[in-house]
Amino acid sequence: MITIRRPADDLLAIARQHADPADWPTGVHFDPVDRWYTRVATAPGHEVWLLSWWPGQGTDLHDHGGCAGAFLVVAGELTEETVDRGRLRPTRLAAGTGRRFGPRHVHQVTNVGSVPAVSVHVYRPALRRMTRYHLEDGRLRAAEVAEAGTAW
Ligand SMILES: [Fe+2]
Repeated sequence: MITIRRPADDLLAIARQHADPADWPTGVHFDPVDRWYTRVATAPGHEVWLLSWWPGQGTDLHDHGGCAGAFLVVAGELTEETVDRGRLRPTRLAAGTGRRFGPRHVHQVTNVGSVPAVSVHVYRPALRRMTRYHLEDGRLRAAEVAEAGTAW
């Protein structure tokens, strides 16, 4: 099946439109203690966030509260892990590459490289809630719900 995406529907294309540091409202900060992130754009129906990743920093397994999204690696390299038949399956994403995901996507993202990484993330609609998961005996087990306004 061929899927044709209009530009306004292609969240990875939107991420690419926000990949130029000259357009960011702030410089990128790298915090080796806590991952740094900031919202760089809001639009009807979606938000754009800029994240930095010190080597070794990453997320837990999480969903996006029903949002669809996309993320683009702008600098460095990130590894996305998704659950495939009960196991984590890694995908390396070099600078300039990214991926789209649907509203039921669960993943964890880590900078396993030796240099800091930067990425641009788009969420549709705006990210309001994320559930964190543990992988236990091959199954996702919800561990914690994080809400916008409290957790970020
Ligand atoms: Fe995510």
